[in-house]
Amino acid sequence: MAKWRRIRVLKRFVYERSRTFWYEKDLREGWGTPDIGLSVRIDLHDTEGTLNWLKSFSESWMYNEKEIEVGLAEKHYFANAKLDGRIIGYTKVGTKRVYIYDFDRCLPLPDDVSFLYHVYVAKEFRKNNIAQALITTVMSDLVPKGYRKMFCHIAEWNAPSIRLFESLGFRRVADIRFHRFFRMLKVWASRIPQDHPRKISLSMPDLLR
Ligand SMILES: CC(C)(COP(=O)(O)OP(=O)(O)OC[C@H]1O[C@@H](n2cnc3c(N)ncnc32)[C@H](O)[C@@H]1OP(=O)(O)O)[C@@H](O)C(=O)NCCC(=O)NCCS
Repeated sequence: MAKWRRIRVLKRFVYERSRTFWYEKDLREGWGTPDIGLSVRIDLHDTEGTLNWLKSFSESWMYNEKEIEVGLAEKHYFANAKLDGRIIGYTKVGTKRVYIYDFDRCLPLPDDVSFLYHVYVAKEFRKNNIAQALITTVMSDLVPKGYRKMFCHIAEWNAPSIRLFESLGFRRVADIRFHRFFRMLKVWASRIPQDHPRKISLSMPDLLR
């Protein structure tokens, strides 16, 4: 393991903190059809292609073993966007049970709730509405299956991602912060709009109450 990586792992073990905004989309509200300039094809079912593509990234968080293990067991979406047969973006959306990296544990989801883990578009193809197309294609597949909501969480600093989700009608519903000191996790949450953050135990309804 490279020296810098060992230092990062050690730092993460001793102390870690993060703040994310949780967003919710009511799938019954609908959404517009994204206008993609390029001839991109969204493939909802090419899980193997997406996973192989994710493995090629040097950033280890892109291919998280626990997320993938739960994702394969629960048949999560590993949808990709292809241009001329080449993958240029993907999204990962969970149902039933999701592994939340920040908390290093699985949370059960209500039957009609989905959770978008991540969406990514290769740098040179950004701002062509490809992320919107990936997300709306998954949402369109979920609605006839009885899903009513999609949640996602976004790091507070990620302005492009916040813009993306707000452009699709996602509403900010919670502000979640965690601190972990020698693996002891403490999570605070505040519902938006709301007053003071409060310490919570970890379960999906509790997170969003
Ligand atoms: C966030 C990300 C997925 C957006 O992908 P994209 O294909 O460029 O997004 P889209 O073209 O579909 O854009 C959708 C909306 O977001 C806005 N947007 C996208 N990138 C933006 C940026 N850098 N700054 C401001 N707004 C941005 C677009 O303007 C558009 O909004 P509009 O319809 O109101 O104009 C991409 O920048 C990315 O892969 N980032 C790195 C990974 C990441 O942060 N993922 C999100 C974590 S869940």
